[in-house]
Formats: sequence, structure tokens, C-alpha cells
Amino acid sequence: MFAAVFIPVLALVLAACSQNKTMAQGTAEAGTFEQAATTEAETSKQSSEGREPASNTGKTSILVAYFSATGTTKPLAEYAADILHADLYEIVPADPYTAEDLAYYTGGRADQEQNDPTARPAISGFVADMAQYDTVLLGYPIWHGQAPRIISTFLESYDFSGKTILPFCTSHSSGIGSSADNLHGLAPNANWLEGERFAAETSREEIGKWLDENHIKAAGGTASAQAGQFNFETHTVLLNSGYEMPIMGLGTYSLSDEECYNSVTALLKAGGRLIDTAYMYGNETAVGRAVRDSGIPREEIFVITKLYPGEQYANPEKAIQDALDKLDIGYIDMLLLHHPGTNDVKAYKAMEKAVGEGKIHSLGLSNWYVKELGEFLPQVTITPALVQNEIHPYYQENDVIPYIQNLGIVVQGWYPFGGRGHTSELLGDAVISEIAAAHEVTSAQVILRWNLQKGVVVIPGSSNPDHIRENLDLFGFALTDDEMNRINALNRNEKHDWY
Ligand SMILES: NC(=O)c1ccc[n+]([C@@H]2O[C@H](COP(=O)([O-])OP(=O)(O)OC[C@H]3O[C@@H](n4cnc5c(N)ncnc54)[C@H](OP(=O)(O)O)[C@@H]3O)[C@@H](O)[C@H]2O)c1
Ligand SMILES: Cc1cc2nc3c(=O)[nH]c(=O)nc-3n(C[C@H](O)[C@H](O)[C@H](O)COP(=O)(O)O)c2cc1C
Repeated sequence: MFAAVFIPVLALVLAACSQNKTMAQGTAEAGTFEQAATTEAETSKQSSEGREPASNTGKTSILVAYFSATGTTKPLAEYAADILHADLYEIVPADPYTAEDLAYYTGGRADQEQNDPTARPAISGFVADMAQYDTVLLGYPIWHGQAPRIISTFLESYDFSGKTILPFCTSHSSGIGSSADNLHGLAPNANWLEGERFAAETSREEIGKWLDENHIKAAGGTASAQAGQFNFETHTVLLNSGYEMPIMGLGTYSLSDEECYNSVTALLKAGGRLIDTAYMYGNETAVGRAVRDSGIPREEIFVITKLYPGEQYANPEKAIQDALDKLDIGYIDMLLLHHPGTNDVKAYKAMEKAVGEGKIHSLGLSNWYVKELGEFLPQVTITPALVQNEIHPYYQENDVIPYIQNLGIVVQGWYPFGGRGHTSELLGDAVISEIAAAHEVTSAQVILRWNLQKGVVVIPGSSNPDHIRENLDLFGFALTDDEMNRINALNRNEKHDWY
């Protein structure tokens, strides 16, 4: 009964909110100057181009503004905005730079501008309401040891009084040097922090570390401080990696190629955006094909896959590349180690390297319990964002779940319905059936909702589109404390698989 209400809402919410990167990019296309120091003629030219002004998502007081002529500075600005849940604003020249303009020491346009301290290249766009930001990260390339003159245009276009400005740059080899100091006079009443130079292809982790060192935090704290909290409005959880993940999705264990393709397609059509696959399931190719065929922007979908012990852990670089090739969706949202095993630390370290290379966004583990985590975590650098373990009303892991969650790691449950061969017993359980009847929902929905209220992400497996829709429809009711306790009391510590 909730499907009709829930599914369109879910589709809208997820389309707008599921991945903060999408929102940030939505603000990247800039409009016209609001408090412009440029000429009226320039302003009217900018307006006539019909660009939308940058708008705030209402979630942050931080703006990441950047100019990037050849795309090197851009990803670093995007990492910062993503980590901080900040708005992103690209400083776009009204008159774009051609390759000829940028050929330096040729007396071309960029050279001329840098040699002329009064040059103020016009910007196509504006920040709609600069007043709402208290911190501005300002990124740019180094041109002849200095910030490009368009950065001067930007700084003279707004009142930065009282705002904190943190500059950063990329360059071929120069440091940030005097380039940032020389900007201070253009925003004299701002609180300028010391800037930092980054090499091309600096990793997201390094940007996160730099932000931490400068005590720049996402609204409400750092990503890691907020990690693990479920947002029942957006149906997502913030991972300690800074990425958001939907809290319910689809498991694909035992689904054959065509079944898997159809199930993932049904999930995506119904508004679901989280898919769990694995090398072992043999269906990564089908998952990737369904994601690509869906027409849904890549960044709205979250795909988890796993490496398997043995050959894959022994040669993890190849295993990661194989997963990327089979999925063929650009990057892997989350890569897990499927089980503890020989070479697991070695495999994880290769996964950490792949995170630095942008091939994987977040890392996690599966079938790791308290003892295993205690041994594993000191050996690795990136704290896993997720642990996926067997969890259902007959096997509740009540000691393990809080231990993992207290580490800022999100818990995800497999076999939510007990796994094949056990589902009818669990779905027919008298207590669960009674609670389901009271809420006019199904036993499956009660079990999934019980998981969500315990802070456990769910990935039920199904090849039935009706079940897939039903399993996403979890937000039109809530279990009372008494109902939660009655389900908690069903625990039998009865594991349904060996790992
Ligand atoms: N990391 C690990 O070691 C590990 C191990 C096992 C599983 N997993 C992951 O966890 C996922 C979930 O486990 P699972 O798929 O094996 O078992 P499960 O989710 O506990 O149960 C799947 C069974 O439930 C049925 N089902 C699904 N939705 C239903 C509904 N609304 N009403 C009635 N029946 C329903 C399915 O049948 P229909 O097809 O007819 O809907 C299927 O037979 C896996 O797909 C996999 O991604 C991970
Ligand atoms: C006109 C111009 C002048 C440059 N001058 C310097 C320089 O003085 N020192 C340096 O290390 N790199 C210099 N570079 C290289 C850029 O700073 C470097 O490639 C930067 O990462 C480009 O960033 P972007 O791709 O975001 O525009 C210059 C590039 C251009 C186009």
C-alpha cells in the first residue's frame, strides 16, 4: 500500500539528493555578477548569455570557487566541495581561453594579462548570494608565478569582509609563493589563511587531510564525525569517506546474467539506487550493463562489488582492473574484501592505492567481526567505510553491530530474510507477521524497517520486480520501541551460512 506514495517521492529525492556531488555540480554553472565591479556592458553581456546564477543548497556556509583553464584544478575543487558538502562555483571566463591564448611565453593572451596588473578578464556568471558564505576556498592555476587575473576580477566582485578565504593552486612546478599574498589587497577585510599548492592528480584523501589541517569542516562537523547517521528523508547515509550511500538497495547473489540485468533494471526504475554485486556472483557485467542502459546519471547510482580470497587477493591490481572492466561504469563506488583470507591486507592496500587514483570511491569489508577488525584495522590506512555481515532477526549480531558503528563504520546486512531456504520461516514468523498486519505492510517490509531502525543498511536479494518495489517501500511506517524489542527478542544466534 505504500508503494504508490513512496516510489515517485523516492525517485525525486534520490535524483536531487542522493549524491552530494550532483548538487555541487549543479551550482558549478555560474551566472552573472551580483555586486559586480565590472562595467555595465560586461554585466549585460553576462546576463544575456542566460546562465543560471549559482544557488545555495541551503546545507552549507562554505563555497568552493575555482578557475581551471585546462582541468587540473577542477577535480581538487570538486573533492573539497564533496568532502565539505559545500557549494561549488566555477569561475568561467566570459571569453574562453583558447589553446593559443594559453601557450605561455609566446606573448599570447594569458601572457599579456599576467604582465598587466590592471587586466580584469570578465567572468560569465555570478554567485547569487555571496553573503551566505562564511568560508570561501579559492582554487586557481599558477600563471607566471601568480594567480590568473580572472581571480582578481572575482575577488573585486564581492564583499569578502569577515569571510575566511583559503587559497589553493595547482602548477607545473612552482609553489603557491607570493600568488596568494598578492591577492590579499583585493579582499582586504577577509581573513586570509595560508594557501597550499597541489600537484596534478592529488587524491581526495590528501585534500581531506589538508582541510582537516586547516580546520575546515563540513556543516555540523567533519565527514567522519557525521558518518553513519541515517537520513530518513533522503534515504541515504554519509560514509566516513565523504560519500553518501542509499540505505536500501538490491542484493544480486545467485542472480544469473539476465535475471540480474532485469532485477537491477527493475530496481532503478522503482527509484532504488544501491546495488550489491561481487566477483563471486559472476554478474558484475550484467550489473554494469543495467546501470549504463538505465540512462540515470552515473553519480546517482551506488555500486558495491567485492574481491574474493585466493587469486584475487594475491594479484589485487589485476582483480581491481577486472572489476572495473566488467562493470564498465567508470569507477567503483565501494569495493569490499569478501572474506578474511591470505593476503587480505595486501589486497586492501592495493584498494587504498586505487582510491588515490580515483578508481574506487570507498572501501569496506565483508564477514569481518570484532576479533578480525581488531587485527586488521591497525594494518591499513583508510578506515573501511562499510562492513557487510549476515544480519537477520534470527542472527542479530547484537555485539558486533555497535562495535562497528562506534568506529564510524556503516553496517550493512546480508541475508535480511535469512537467505534462500530460510525465507518462508522468517517471513512467516508469528511475531513479524503480527507486526506486519498491524501496519498493513508485509513481513519483508517489517524486517527491512527493523534493520534500518537499527542503523543497518539493507540489500535484499530478489528477481521479482514486485518484491523489489515492495522492498524499497519502507518509509510510510515506523516500528515502535515495543515492536523493535519484540523482534530483537527473536534472536537465536542462528547463522545461515558458514562465514
Ligand atoms: N557478503 C557476503 O558474504 C554475502 C553473503 C550472502 C549474501 N550477500 C548479499 O546479500 C544479499 C541478500 O542476500 P540473499 O539475496 O542471498 O538473501 P535474502 O535477501 O535474505 O533472501 C532472498 C530471497 O528472498 C526472497 N524475497 C525478496 N524480497 C521478498 C519479498 N518482498 N517478499 C517475499 N520474498 C522476498 C527472494 O525471492 P524473489 O526473487 O522471489 O523475490 C529470494 O528468494 C545478496 O543478494 C548479496 O548481495 C552477501
Ligand atoms: C599562461 C600560463 C602560465 C603558467 N605559468 C606557470 C608557472 O609560472 N609555474 C608553473 O609551475 N606552472 C605554470 N603554468 C602551468 C599551470 O600552472 C599548471 O598546468 C596548472 O596545473 C594548470 O591548472 P588548470 O588545468 O586548472 O588550469 C602556467 C600555465 C599557463 C597556461
